[in-house]
Amino acid sequence: MNENTIIRFEEVTKQYDDDPAVLNSVSFEIERGKFYTLLGPSGCGKTTILRLIAGFTEPSYGKIYFNGKVINHVPANERQVNTVFQDYALFPHLNVFENVAFGLRIKKMKNSEIQKKVKEALKFVNLEGYENREIKEMSGGQRQRVAIARAIVNEPEVILLDEPLSALDLKLRTEMQYELRELQRRLGITFIFVTHDQEEALAMSDEIFVLNKGKIQQSGTPTDIYDEPINRFVADFIGESNIVPGKMIEDFKVEFVGKLFECVDQGFNPNESVEIVIRPEDLEITKKDQGKLKVRVDSQLFRGVHYEICCYDEAGNEWLVHSTKKAVVGDEIGLYFDAEAIHVMRFGETEEEFDKRLEAYHEGDHAN
Ligand SMILES: Nc1ncnc2c1ncn2[C@@H]1O[C@H](COP(=O)(O)OP(=O)(O)O)[C@@H](O)[C@H]1O
Ligand SMILES: [Mg+2]
Repeated sequence: MNENTIIRFEEVTKQYDDDPAVLNSVSFEIERGKFYTLLGPSGCGKTTILRLIAGFTEPSYGKIYFNGKVINHVPANERQVNTVFQDYALFPHLNVFENVAFGLRIKKMKNSEIQKKVKEALKFVNLEGYENREIKEMSGGQRQRVAIARAIVNEPEVILLDEPLSALDLKLRTEMQYELRELQRRLGITFIFVTHDQEEALAMSDEIFVLNKGKIQQSGTPTDIYDEPINRFVADFIGESNIVPGKMIEDFKVEFVGKLFECVDQGFNPNESVEIVIRPEDLEITKKDQGKLKVRVDSQLFRGVHYEICCYDEAGNEWLVHSTKKAVVGDEIGLYFDAEAIHVMRFGETEEEFDKRLEAYHEGDHAN
């Protein structure tokens, strides 16, 4: 654990009754002062992770550390964490000031202190002068800010945000994405943000954890995850992908669409069945005999920045190409790609399993 680690999950499993685990041996570390996003489809366990960190529920197995101490049984009100809920959970009968002051009043803080802190928090979220407004007089975006002010006024070490932008319309949502990111930078505290929207995650985060079915599929910076998706789920969930079946003949040699290609992957079994992912922007269109694959252009759309060209190869696989060059529908063309553009994946393998496999491989006969 490095000295910047603030939260650590060690093989945390969460199970309700006899149902299958909703989180399955999840391990990760959160560092101080960064913006993290938990990204995944509905039901994958995102909210459960936030509830475990906040102390609203306890793990069935495994340990949760906060600043190096196990906090599995520490009650929610003793944790240095505040949550911004999806529906904001503001008190409709209290005005803006009292909503933000609520936690401080419970702590029995002096009134002069409360005045000062609430003012500061409202200033941080650009709501100076709104102290006496009723919640029902505030717009969606303003309510959002009140909820954030209520979280930061307690000066927690970590703020948890559970899909806080999902109720806003697209324009306001984009504005709030900038605002939240900027706020996190100014405050310098750790944000753990939950979303099912991949673009939002890519735009906002220092680090993303991609979740599916109660497991972390992959973690890393937005570019890491976009450029090197670990499996089909991640490749499909984040950005657009071409995915075809293939066979890993040996290290650095892969076969798909009946052809042999050089690649940069290793550590598979000889002739192992794999999945091949190539991003549409990594495909270049060429004359029919100058590419690595031959395809027929089925349709084409102009997307402003590029053409989106849909093609089929002889085996019937669909290939989506993003190109600044135009093609002609019905033409046979070539597709060119670098060895690095080919991503070879074992079916359903998570990052953790991938790391273990490569470690075993390098410890074995193949060490070099
Ligand atoms: N209190 C509970 N009792 C039983 N099952 C639950 C409970 N809370 C959540 N679950 C189940 O756990 C899974 C993950 O839920 P959740 O963490 O809310 O997912 P997400 O926030 O990613 O949509 C879901 O299948 C959900 O039905
Ligand atoms: Mg949720």
